[in-house]
Amino acid sequence: MASAPSTIIFGEALVDEFPTGQVVGGAPFNVARHLAAFMAPPLTITRIGDDRNGLAVRAEFERFVMADTGLQLDPIEETGRVVVERSGQGAGHRDAGRRFTILPRQAYDFIDPRAAVASLAGTEPGAVYFGTLAQREERSRQALDAVLAATSATRFLDLNLRHGQSGEAIATRSLLAADIVKVNEEELQSLFQWYFQIGPNDGQLSTDEVHAACRALMDRFSLEGLIVTLGHRGSVYFGADGSLLANRDNPAPPFVIDTVGAGDAFSAIFLLGRVRGWPLELTLARANEFAGAICAVTGAVPRDMNFYDKWVGRWRDS
Ligand SMILES: Nc1ncnc2c1ncn2[C@@H]1O[C@H](COP(=O)(O)OP(=O)(O)O)[C@@H](O)[C@H]1O
Ligand SMILES: [Mg+2]
Repeated sequence: MASAPSTIIFGEALVDEFPTGQVVGGAPFNVARHLAAFMAPPLTITRIGDDRNGLAVRAEFERFVMADTGLQLDPIEETGRVVVERSGQGAGHRDAGRRFTILPRQAYDFIDPRAAVASLAGTEPGAVYFGTLAQREERSRQALDAVLAATSATRFLDLNLRHGQSGEAIATRSLLAADIVKVNEEELQSLFQWYFQIGPNDGQLSTDEVHAACRALMDRFSLEGLIVTLGHRGSVYFGADGSLLANRDNPAPPFVIDTVGAGDAFSAIFLLGRVRGWPLELTLARANEFAGAICAVTGAVPRDMNFYDKWVGRWRDS
């Protein structure tokens, strides 16, 4: 019998529609797949539609041998979709020369609170992962609140702000709920702007000023840890005990194809380190190294499962 899942992943599973074809994604789902590939399959709470894209998501659950206990089926709403086009004019979040249009009112906006809580039966999770996109609608916000109320596990928030989807109000409620938060530099700027009115016109902050503002954020939201990822420059972890762990000299990936999913890879290995009981410093170093390696594959997750073998082998003994 499979062991009980030690992590809960809450949020969107969706289909990214590229001009060349479709790929199942969504930040929470990417994290879930990485954990499953490392033999730490999580309980993944999401909602899909009764449609072809829903079948594609389900097929990924099967391919990664993930239990579908938390996978809800919506009889009306469609499976989440993000339309990815070559960058042009118009609204939407841009990355690597592409424009992402996140469609409104999708099945993942209607995660049922009762079914979500019911799916927790028999689990003893150490952590709950959540983000902000799946909180843009009331129903899924209620489901997240219900899940959080039902467990005392550590709350891990990967903010993942998506332009036009969730703003200050959702960030605030998420930060209030969280114990450990991961943001990238751009998201950190938004938080500084919202909570301390420090904006782009205030000039370049010194390193000490940035650190002081990070500490102030942690105090304001009673955080146990704050992780700021810095793209190719690595990451910094602030601990509530005043500690600061920087990972700045990670082995560079052999080449970078795209940085899509780098943050998800980082979060997945951070959570894996907690499941495996790795020391925090080692966990952070591994999270950076693995996230860097994901930059050398196309898209957010490797197509080929063999990708994981090297890492599983390297990390087996400690
Ligand atoms: N160009 C890069 N080269 C090497 N590692 C990278 C690169 N971009 C991202 N990473 C790794 O991925 C992590 C997360 O990337 P980042 O861009 O900061 O977050 P997000 O994907 O959430 O925007 C970084 O801390 C780093 O470990
Ligand atoms: Mg991110």
